[in-house]
Amino acid sequence: MIESKRIKTGVLGLDEILGGGFVPNTVNVILGSAGAGKTIFSIQYLLKGIDEGDKCIFVSFDMDEKDLIRTTRSLGWDEVENYIAENKLSVNKFFAENVSYVNNDLLNLLMSESNAKTRIVIDSFTPMISSLNFESRNDVNWFFNKLREIGTAVITIEEPLNGDLGAASVSLPLFLGDCAIHLKNIGYGEAFSRTLRVIKHRSSWHAEGVFPYRILDGIGIYVEGVDYLKGEKERIDVDEILEELGMKRRDVDSKLMERIERVAKSASRTARNAIIDLLTKPE
Ligand SMILES: Nc1ncnc2c1ncn2[C@@H]1O[C@H](COP(=O)(O)OP(=O)(O)OP(=O)(O)O)[C@@H](O)[C@H]1O
Ligand SMILES: [Mg+2]
Repeated sequence: MIESKRIKTGVLGLDEILGGGFVPNTVNVILGSAGAGKTIFSIQYLLKGIDEGDKCIFVSFDMDEKDLIRTTRSLGWDEVENYIAENKLSVNKFFAENVSYVNNDLLNLLMSESNAKTRIVIDSFTPMISSLNFESRNDVNWFFNKLREIGTAVITIEEPLNGDLGAASVSLPLFLGDCAIHLKNIGYGEAFSRTLRVIKHRSSWHAEGVFPYRILDGIGIYVEGVDYLKGEKERIDVDEILEELGMKRRDVDSKLMERIERVAKSASRTARNAIIDLLTKPE
């Protein structure tokens, strides 16, 4: 179901996969190995926010304003320099050795820079939690709750080169985040070398499967293969289905009818078939 109040990601093709975008006041984890496009994703997210009048905050442990301007220029986003000057985008470099996830400086900064509509990026979160163990779950949860209060956050996580996703520094944010997206760079040549997959999206629909993406000069990450999702969309007229089946509303149990009305909202061919099954094949 596409809900109206979503946070547009700014990544072409991704909102369709997420059912409209991120859910407001959530922590969204972007997992990917070196060069997968995590930083580019983060910047696209913030640029979209600036377009929509949101306050945008970029926190990094390896990039300062100059580094960010250099990266964004190489993709054709020359406006970033002006956004920083106009205070629409605040860029904050922290030194990982001075910061822990419960660091007050970081939270104070985020709170003082925020307003009613704030987009936060922490790129990457890994240096802050690389030494964590599973007992730190409550601390990370506490920090994520603070981020949710302040705004809608995107945090990036480095995928270990050996592909081990079981380490606490990877699995804790994946467990505790509201949405997790995996950017994978397989590196087998052009066609299918980069793929995006939504691992989870709490309290929202999301498309299953992997989607190829490219990094394009001037655009950034561009997710392909989402057209079929639009093709899947179909308005569902429950009364019409009932008529086709020769049934009347009053013959259907009211609880079942409520369920059917909910399913109908997802407006897809699959949902239509499921409704027919619910009506014709009682459990
Ligand atoms: N102008 C461009 N045109 C096409 N591709 C580009 C361009 N600029 C960067 N890229 C691609 O984007 C990749 C870098 O993306 P990004 O910096 O977002 O990765 P990352 O996941 O943040 O990596 P790291 O873990 O090193 O921080 C490069 O490896 C390159 O493949
Ligand atoms: Mg990066």
